[in-house]
Amino acid sequence: MSLDVPVTTSPAAWHGPMGGARCCLAGTDDPWRAIARDGGSPMKGMLFLRTGVVLLLVGIVMGMVMGGRHDFTYAPVHAHLNLVGGVLMMVAGLFYNARPDLAGRLVTAHYVSHALGGVLLPIGIYGSIAGTAWAGPVVGSGSVLALLALLLFAINLFRRAPASVTAAALDSASAP
Ligand code: HEM
Repeated sequence: MSLDVPVTTSPAAWHGPMGGARCCLAGTDDPWRAIARDGGSPMKGMLFLRTGVVLLLVGIVMGMVMGGRHDFTYAPVHAHLNLVGGVLMMVAGLFYNARPDLAGRLVTAHYVSHALGGVLLPIGIYGSIAGTAWAGPVVGSGSVLALLALLLFAINLFRRAPASVTAAALDSASAP
């Protein structure tokens, strides 16, 4: 016996934080659609989460290599890659998934500055420990970008949901 349950092909339904269960049944309300109509982007949070988890994977492998070699010279590189590039990026991703109504240039600017800063900062710290000539500008620009990313995050955190996005839509979008 087959279960005759029609399924939507909406990409938002597959990639949203709801995991697709409730939203994928045709005929049910799709909060992502309501949010997208209001200019929101359900994919922004996932981009932060995916970038963060990739950087965390690189940082953790680096930690394992350090441990295996008993050489902790570059421990600060590992620490900054994991914390600034990985953890902070994923925290932002969780926030943007809970507030998919926030979209636009400020969120994109946050992503770009965080992604660049989260990579340049550990590279610059590596160069600094290794005593290279290029370390100064790289660590400097990485730190400025990381600070800019945090400022943009703060601005987005204090932004209010537009009145056109209903509280019910936001509630159901962030529900598990
Ligand atoms: C399998 C996972 C991991 C391994 C094998 C690992 C390994 C290491 C090693 C060998 C050190 C150097 C210890 C020392 O200097 O005596 C270290 C330091 C550190 N790790 Fe990890 N780590 C892992 C995951 C993480 C994660 C997930 C984070 C943060 C999100 C993190 C943050 C740090 C910090 C903050 C330090 C101190 C850096 C410093 O002293 O300059 N590590 N780790």
